[in-house]
Order: sequence, then C-alpha cells, then structure tokens
Amino acid sequence: MAVSRTPFIAGNWKMNLDHLQAIAFVQKLAWALADAKHDFADAEVAVFPPFTDLRSVQTLVAADSLPIAYGAQDVSAHDSGAYTGEVSGAFLAHLDCAYVIIGHSERRQYHGESDADVNAKVLAAHRHGLVPVVCVGETAEDLEAHGPSAVPVAQLRAALAGVDGAKGLVVAYEPVWAIGSGQAATPEQAEQVCAALRVLIGELLGEEVAASTRILYGGSVKAANIASFLREPNVDGALVGGASLDIDEFSSIVRFKKHVGA
Ligand code: 13P
Repeated sequence: MAVSRTPFIAGNWKMNLDHLQAIAFVQKLAWALADAKHDFADAEVAVFPPFTDLRSVQTLVAADSLPIAYGAQDVSAHDSGAYTGEVSGAFLAHLDCAYVIIGHSERRQYHGESDADVNAKVLAAHRHGLVPVVCVGETAEDLEAHGPSAVPVAQLRAALAGVDGAKGLVVAYEPVWAIGSGQAATPEQAEQVCAALRVLIGELLGEEVAASTRILYGGSVKAANIASFLREPNVDGALVGGASLDIDEFSSIVRFKKHVGA
C-alpha cells in the first residue's frame, strides 16, 4: 500500500440484510469503530447493501453524520426508460451513493454480463457522478489456461474503454476461485495481478490516475489475513464479502493497521 492512497475497506453484503437489519448493522458498525477510536485517515470504510436498503442507510448516515460511505451493488447502463427491474445511476446519486460496484463475477456469471455491459455501466456511473468499483478476476480454468494476469487485465481494458480517468475509479481484483471458498489468493498472487492492473491503468488513463487509483483485493478476506495483503505495494484495500456481515470481524479488518506487522 502506497502512502499517497487512503486504504479502502469495502463490505459487499451481496443479497443479505434487509433494510431494518441494515439500519441496525450500520449503527453498530459506527459504534464499534468509534469505540475503537478508528482513524478514518487509516482506512476509508464503505458498505454496499442491497438496493432496498439504500434509502434507510442514507437516512441513518445523514442523521448521525456517520463517516461511512455506501454504494449499490450494480447500476443500469441506461439513465431511464422501459428497463423493467433496473436501477438508474441517477436514482443512486439522489440517495447520495458515492460508489457503485460494477462487473462483480456473480453478475458476470449469473446474469451474463459481458465486458461490453460492464463498460456501459462504468460510463453510466460516471454520467451520474458515481465512482465505479470495477471488479475483475479469473476463474480457476482461466488461471490454468492463461496464467494469473491475462483475464483480469483484458477485463479491465474492456471496462475502461472511453472512460475519463478524472471521474474517479476503484478497481477490485477478485479471483473467482477465491470468492467464498475460504481459500484466499496469496499476497504475492494478489500483488502480481494488482501491479499488472496498475500498469494498464497508466497505459489507458495516464500515470497520475494510475498512481491515485485504489486497487483492492477480494476473495476470502478476513481479519486474520488482511494485513498481509495491505503490506503489498499495489494492494490498497479489500472488497470483503462474507466477513463484512460480522461487525467484529469487519471492524477488525477495517483496523488492519493495528495488526500490520503482527
Ligand atoms: P468473500 O469475501 O465472501 O470471499 O466474497 C468476496 C466478494 O465477492 C466480495 O465482492
């Protein structure tokens, strides 16, 4: 982790916690971090609840001025119109979402999202002032056939076509084989791919954007392994799934600085 980039710890709740549970969770998370005297300069914290929770989270965060960012798990490529079931970036912006996850492997796998779809969604996020958290990652078969970086690099190249780097970007490298498997990548594996992704960002969007873009690792991140990832120079945080649903575990991940060097 380079000093110039604020580490980013993001919880992707996936399809867990309804809006009532979300209110209780975010409130308790804020208390846990306040009790631990978490310094938000050490790590920015964001949660990504289901769409139906966002209005409740917005109300709580605004009422109590909580230092927790939030965003959605997906966004439509379209701004409005006859797209049943989709949610516009304009609506997310009105809910004060700062971020939106785009191209998660579960969207690619279960909803057939292509690289072109992901690119269209990144452009839509930027039209509405949202910072996309662009997810890339290879399957176990990809890894076998193409090695570690080829697929994530190709996915990111496609995702960034025509993108204005000045509008903000977070990238999450999530090897599909590490998601929910309990078998995280090694810090060295994560570093190798994150470094290759940063080189690509430099090529496409310029060195300044490459130096300031946070690149996260995701896939079986826990309090016990977060510090080892954050020691790597090109890993700037984590996109956490299962462990983000446990307040003690997630707040311990957020406070990774306390166990760096442990
Ligand atoms: P797990 O942390 O449960 O492996 O999930 C990672 C993930 O998919 C985050 O987006």
